[in-house]
Amino acid sequence: MSASPPVERTFWLGTSWKMTKSIAEAAKYADELAAAVDDIPNHVELFVLPPFTMISLVAQRLAHTRVRVGAQNAHWASSGAYTGEVSTSMVAEAGATIVEIGHSERRAAFGETDTTVNLKTKAVLSAGLRPLVCVGEPWEEREFGTASEYVVRQVKVALAGIPAHDISRVMVAYEPVWAIGDGGRPATASQVREMHSIIRAALVDRYGEAGEAVPLLYGGSVNQDNAAELASQEHVDGLFVGRAAWTADGYLSLARLVATTVQGVSA
Ligand code: PGA
Repeated sequence: MSASPPVERTFWLGTSWKMTKSIAEAAKYADELAAAVDDIPNHVELFVLPPFTMISLVAQRLAHTRVRVGAQNAHWASSGAYTGEVSTSMVAEAGATIVEIGHSERRAAFGETDTTVNLKTKAVLSAGLRPLVCVGEPWEEREFGTASEYVVRQVKVALAGIPAHDISRVMVAYEPVWAIGDGGRPATASQVREMHSIIRAALVDRYGEAGEAVPLLYGGSVNQDNAAELASQEHVDGLFVGRAAWTADGYLSLARLVATTVQGVSA
C-alpha cells in the first residue's frame, strides 16, 4: 500500500498597509509583489489591504496574480447619506474581495463597537465578500483574568445572526491590543496557542464542523524573528502583519518563511 502524500495546510499571510503609502509607492509595492509571487508556494494564501484610494490600482496591478486585495473597513449601509464612508459594493467594485472589520485602532479611535462590527460583517457577507473580523483584548483584561471572556464575547457578537452557510467565508484575526504597532510586544507562542484554541472552541460550539474550518489568523508585531514560531502553533491558520510587511521585500520574506514552516503539515 502506498502512503498518501502529505496534505498541505493552507496558510494565510495578509498585510494591512494601514494609513501609509502614496499612489506611487503602492504601485511599486504591487509590481514587486507581482514579479515575485510565482515563487511562493500555493499553500500560502496572500492578501494585501491598501488604503481605499489605492485599492483599485493595486487590484489592477495584481489582477493576473493569486494575491487577493481587500479593504481595511467598509460601512454597513449599501448607500446613502453617510459622509466620508465607503460601502461594501464600492470596495468590491474597486477590486476588493476581503474586508477587514473591527481592527482595534478603529475600535479605539473611530467608535467601532461590537455592534457595528456585527453590522459590517453581515454587510460584507451580503456583498459576496470575505470579512476578516479582528478581535483582541486590552492588557487590563489579561491582568483581570478576563481576556478569554472578552475575546469570546467579541467573536460571538461579531457573528450573531450569521448563518452556518455563510461562515465558510468568514476569517477571524486575533490581535491583542497590547501587541499591536509601535510599542506593542508580540504575544508569546503559548499566549497565541491558548487564545486560538479558545476562539476555535467558541466557533465549533456555534457552527460545529464548519467552525473548525474558519481561518484563525494572529496579528500584532509579527516579524521575521517570531513568524515561524507563531505560524507553527496549533489553530494558527495565518498571520496578519502590519509594519514588517510594509515593504514588498518584507512581505515576501515572511511569505517564504511561513511557506517553509507550514509545508507538508498534515490536515
Ligand atoms: P503590526 O500591526 O504588525 O504593525 O503590529 C498589526 C495589525 O495591526 O494588524
